[in-house]
Amino acid sequence: MAKLTDISREDFSRLSLEAKRPYLERCEGDGLPYHTLFAQQFDRGILERLCTLANRIRFINKSREGALYLKTVLAHKRAMLYFSQPSSRTFLSHLAACQILGMTTGSVRDAATSSEFKGESHEDSIRTFSSYFDMIIMRSPEQGLAERMAWELSNSSRPIPILNAGSGKDQHPTQALLDIYTLVRSFETKGGLDGRTVTFCGDLMRGRTVRSLSYLLTNFRDVKQIFVAPQELQVPADVVMILAKKGIDFEVTDDLKSAVKVSDAVYMTRIQDEWDSSKGASARIDTSKFKFGAEELSLLKKDGALLHPLPRRDEIATCCDRDPRAMYWRQMRNGMWIRAALIAATFGLEKPIMDCGY
Ligand code: NCD
Repeated sequence: MAKLTDISREDFSRLSLEAKRPYLERCEGDGLPYHTLFAQQFDRGILERLCTLANRIRFINKSREGALYLKTVLAHKRAMLYFSQPSSRTFLSHLAACQILGMTTGSVRDAATSSEFKGESHEDSIRTFSSYFDMIIMRSPEQGLAERMAWELSNSSRPIPILNAGSGKDQHPTQALLDIYTLVRSFETKGGLDGRTVTFCGDLMRGRTVRSLSYLLTNFRDVKQIFVAPQELQVPADVVMILAKKGIDFEVTDDLKSAVKVSDAVYMTRIQDEWDSSKGASARIDTSKFKFGAEELSLLKKDGALLHPLPRRDEIATCCDRDPRAMYWRQMRNGMWIRAALIAATFGLEKPIMDCGY
């Protein structure tokens, strides 16, 4: 089995994401991740297993007895939520997921309150957390940090899993999981997700959720992807290269209305101006054509779905909020279930939960 202890940090960092995957697995050949770092760790089979487990947890949790059973499954484990970037939903849904499984949690939400403020390295901070906890759920503005920390921990005296809750402009694998879970649920009684057209709109250049979800969608058959953005914020070359290499049908355009008409799902995103190289740079880009309002809603298919990872500004007008096709509220709750499934699976609980009598 490929192990992070058998490869240097430098050699590991040079591998392609696909080549990194086996080093991050729980058990050889099983496919489920031990460290969850990027979307390339999930293929169709794993996605289906996680969605099934999330459905199961959701069902079990409905009864008091079931919920109390779930609270025992990880009552002997502790999770550290280490968020050095702002977060509401990702933090709270991971916290709620831990609570569903009975895990005790600790958190650092601001590096200024940790010893990193005194100059401690990330490596030393992570080693500190691993002394007290059994899993680290981390969000950081630094691209690749979660991956570096996963290698460090696997090569430490107390290896524990890392779950990437958003790394820089790069990846957000658990958001993509909840987006897929929402899409699968949205279309499950309507013939499924295969063969659908999904439009991404907004800041596709810097939106990490877009990179992760675009990749996960390639696991489904004949899903076309349309990227709608101002030229300055269009989908980055690495995403396009993956789609081209995998022979995925995709289109790059600035015409939202035409894209909406042919789409089954529309995924709106916020302008990620926190990454602006000079203050106010994003404000100088004309984004007026990249907003979803009453007119776009009237063009969306009757059984279509409108998604947003949130937080939103004005990309989706509030007049869309009560439409049954608005899935962004459901996405939030689905995030809790799929994250509970991922955490349970990381600790080898897929089978016990699937087979439990509740
Ligand atoms: C996203 C993120 O942090 O990348 N939010 C989230 O996790 N729900 C999207 C964003 O901040 O725009």
